[in-house]
Amino acid sequence: MKLKSIKQVKNLKNKKVLVRVDYNVAMEKGNVLDTERIERSYATINYLLKNKAKIILMAHLGRPKGEKDKDLSLKFVLKYLNQVTKKKVKFVDDCIGEKVNKQVSRLKAGQILLLENLRFYPGEKNNDAKFAQSLAELADIYVNEAFANCHREHASIAAITKYLPAYAGLNLIDEVNNLEKALKGYDKPAIAIIGGVKVETKIKVIEKFLKKYNYVLIGGALANNFFAGQNIKLGKSVYNKEDVKLAEQLYDKYKSKIILPIDVRTAKRLSPKSKVEAHDIFNLNKLKDKNWQIVDIGPKTEIYFEHFIHNAKTIVWNGPMGVFEIEAFSHGTEYIAQKFAAQAKGPAFGIVGGGETLVVINKLGLSKWPDFVSTGGGAMLNFLEGKTLPGIKPLIKR
Ligand code: 3PG
Repeated sequence: MKLKSIKQVKNLKNKKVLVRVDYNVAMEKGNVLDTERIERSYATINYLLKNKAKIILMAHLGRPKGEKDKDLSLKFVLKYLNQVTKKKVKFVDDCIGEKVNKQVSRLKAGQILLLENLRFYPGEKNNDAKFAQSLAELADIYVNEAFANCHREHASIAAITKYLPAYAGLNLIDEVNNLEKALKGYDKPAIAIIGGVKVETKIKVIEKFLKKYNYVLIGGALANNFFAGQNIKLGKSVYNKEDVKLAEQLYDKYKSKIILPIDVRTAKRLSPKSKVEAHDIFNLNKLKDKNWQIVDIGPKTEIYFEHFIHNAKTIVWNGPMGVFEIEAFSHGTEYIAQKFAAQAKGPAFGIVGGGETLVVINKLGLSKWPDFVSTGGGAMLNFLEGKTLPGIKPLIKR
């Protein structure tokens, strides 16, 4: 898939360039916990700075209900953006209207203005034409540098492309090229490691991988839906009754390719102090007490999964293996992270994505090891399903 790159624009000097970035970052008390998405927008910002454009950045943060929410202001992102760009970025506490027009008209070449959260207006999520037009009036050119948001048919992603010449940002192009390689130009044996909770949101991508790849390793609460379909008792473990049917159908069709945990770690409470036990899957039905839940894959599964990882030439990983946020339950996820990263640094082409998975990779200092770290969660999964995302479609070179 060839995209219209911002590099194609001949003269950017003094042009007002409206860049949709994804600064939907995890925050705690006004502090950004992970700056990866901000850093990844820098290549495009730097390119525009070098070419003396006037840069207007727009983004969303969280899920406000179409009105102002002071806790979700993008002003919290400003100090990190200053650090990344080594510039004093300007900020305006709105994204359309008089106040914004005034600030834009004062912008000089090589300056950056960040607009307030787009989702403070309902028009953003409704893909509203008028809202998109108001945004478009701010600039001469539009750039999409928000891969993680490209699965959303929102005004700043989709409708706006009708009103401005639209181009892809440099990280977005990298995302598309790398994910396409995982779908088309990959070497075998190829494996996908899929964890997390809901089968429903991952079923299509699992099926896609089952059709193409050699194996799909399933961990996390996702695996529980498969166990439930095999009448394995799960105590109080998380699983979704509606998803069990889907899991059963998939298992019937692709039994030899679906690799499930052979043992799990359990605990009585989701608390760091709760005692952790390891049980083989076929022993779970023998447990008398029902007051336990699966919190991680077990030690035998770590070795079992490692075997597939070690032999793979292509690996795609999305989703944790358990309740990794609690240190005592994080062993399986961290073990897989280390083995995945080492194989990706070595002989395999390895891609990782999804918010929680990246937290683990970053925590362990492994983010430079995979061939590519996708900033997308839902967008990555949708792309890998084979969908043409609403944000990508208008950027395709025809
Ligand atoms: C993400 O964080 O995955 C994207 O920014 C999309 O956010 P959303 O799920 O709130 O649309």
